[in-house]
Amino acid sequence: MVKAEKITKMREIIKEWKSKGLTIGFVPTMGCLHEGHMSLVERAARENNRVVVSIFVNPIQFGPNEDYEKYPRSLSSDLEKCCSAGVHAVFCPNVNEMYPDKSLAFVNVESLDENLCGKTRPNHFRGVCTVVAKLFNIISPDRAYFGQKDAQQLAIVSKMTSDLNFDIEIISCPILREKDGLALSSRNSYLSSDERAAAVVIYSALESAKALLKRGERSAGNVKAAMKTEIEKQPLAAVDYVEVVDAKTLSPVEKITGTVLVAAAVYIGKTRLIDNFIFCLDEGGKQ
Ligand code: PAF
Repeated sequence: MVKAEKITKMREIIKEWKSKGLTIGFVPTMGCLHEGHMSLVERAARENNRVVVSIFVNPIQFGPNEDYEKYPRSLSSDLEKCCSAGVHAVFCPNVNEMYPDKSLAFVNVESLDENLCGKTRPNHFRGVCTVVAKLFNIISPDRAYFGQKDAQQLAIVSKMTSDLNFDIEIISCPILREKDGLALSSRNSYLSSDERAAAVVIYSALESAKALLKRGERSAGNVKAAMKTEIEKQPLAAVDYVEVVDAKTLSPVEKITGTVLVAAAVYIGKTRLIDNFIFCLDEGGKQ
C-alpha cells in the first residue's frame, strides 16, 4: 500500500494506473476509520481494480465553534486498517498541502443545503463540496463511495457531481449500526458510557417513526412530534432537528407521499449525532 502525503505523488500513482486502463474506486474520509468506512472500502474493492482512501480532516467544513481541533485523529491505526483491507493507496495530505494559501474559490450547491444540517451548520456543505471537488480533481476516480448516514451530504455531492460534469459514479452505501441500533460514527468516540447508552434514543425514535409510517400515518407533523417526544424523554438528549423532507429536493413536506427522508440530529451531551432512513410510497400511496 502506498501512502501519499503530496498531491504530486498521488497524481503520479493515478497516472500510472490510468495508463494501464485500471479502474479506480475512491473512499473520501476524515479518518478515525470504523466498520462503516470499511464497508465502503470493501465495496470499492469489489467494484474497481484499485482503491484509494483519503484521510483528511477538512478545516473548512467546520464552523468556528465546532469540533475541528478535537476531531478524533488516528492515522497509524487507520493506515493499518486500510492495509489489511487491501487498499492500494492512502492519500493523507496536511492542511497546507490542500490549502497552501487563502482559497478564494469554493463550490456551492444551492438550495439543497437550506434545511437539515445546512440550517444549523452554515458553510458546512460548501466546505464539503469544495474539498470533495479538489479530491475528485486529484484522484479522478471512476466511482466514489459515500455513506447514507450523511444523507444530505450524499444528495449534495451527487448534485455537484452531475452539475459540474465530473465523470464519476457516486455510490450510496447503507448505514452500519451497533448491535443496539446506534449508527456508526467517528463522533461516537466522544460519548461517555452513560451518553453511549442514551444515544440509542436516536435510533429508537427513527424506528418509532418508521412504525407510524407503516401503520399509515401520513402527516409529517405527527411523525416529527412523536420523534421529538421520544427523544426529549431521554435527559441526556437534546433535539437539534427532526425532519421529514422530500428525498430529492430535501425540502420539508407536510403530507407524506412519494419518497421521503426522515432525519434527525440530536445532541447527546455535547456530541451532535445524525441518523436517518428513507421511506418510499408508490404512486398509489402503497409502501
Ligand atoms: O463524510 C466525511 O467524512 C467528509 O465530509 C468528507 C466527505 C470526507 C469530506 O471531508
